[in-house]
Amino acid sequence: MRIFIDSANIDEIKIANEWGVVDGVTTNPTLIAKEKNKNKKRLEQQSTAAERCVHNAVFKDVIQKITDIIDGPISVEVTSVDAEGIVEEAIEISKWSKNIVIKIPVTPDGLRATRILRSENIKTNITLVFSTGQALLAAKAGATYVSIFVGRLDDIGHNGIQVVSDTVKIFNLYRLETQVIAASIRHHLHVIESAKAGANIATIPFDIIEKMFKHPLTDIGIERFLKDWEMVKNG
Ligand code: E4P
Repeated sequence: MRIFIDSANIDEIKIANEWGVVDGVTTNPTLIAKEKNKNKKRLEQQSTAAERCVHNAVFKDVIQKITDIIDGPISVEVTSVDAEGIVEEAIEISKWSKNIVIKIPVTPDGLRATRILRSENIKTNITLVFSTGQALLAAKAGATYVSIFVGRLDDIGHNGIQVVSDTVKIFNLYRLETQVIAASIRHHLHVIESAKAGANIATIPFDIIEKMFKHPLTDIGIERFLKDWEMVKNG
């Protein structure tokens, strides 16, 4: 299973990339908004007059910084809701880097746009998927990826991992090429269960990747090795 980082924070993406564990990045308007609030002042000072559309400048700036760090798929979500608007936005955003994947909500217009973008060789990640039926429709429309929101399903008492598992099973059975992303990951166990369910990718927030390193026996082991080494050195 590949690992994407679910973040638009440049520092987090840099650190996780240096750990050697990141194959790609997913962003969404909420994650971009967090960065926008941090960078707004700086961009307002730096932008040219023509670029004074602060929203777009921040958006593009954050995404381009990410593409400079990670050589892998970077999902960027559109904010248009009609098919024509989605296609127009997708064509513009995909010019920013060869690695851009256009993230589109699973709606009739979203899938109409997906079909058109597929014929233009633009990769898509169909998002806000909460059922295997939605995932199947996205695959039929030619989506490159589907993002199943495991955590948000669990939040309302459903079984997010089951949706991942059923989707993987059906995609394998019918040899559908669409890759399954386990998204909305809330904890370490979601990652392991997604891998066991056969997800192609888990997109994981930075703090959860960080927590995956942790085990008390590792800390105790390091402490003991260092203590023993000190004894050897001091005779
Ligand atoms: C990823 O593609 C999604 O945007 C993200 O995983 C959503 O996670 P959340 O439910 O924690 O907002």
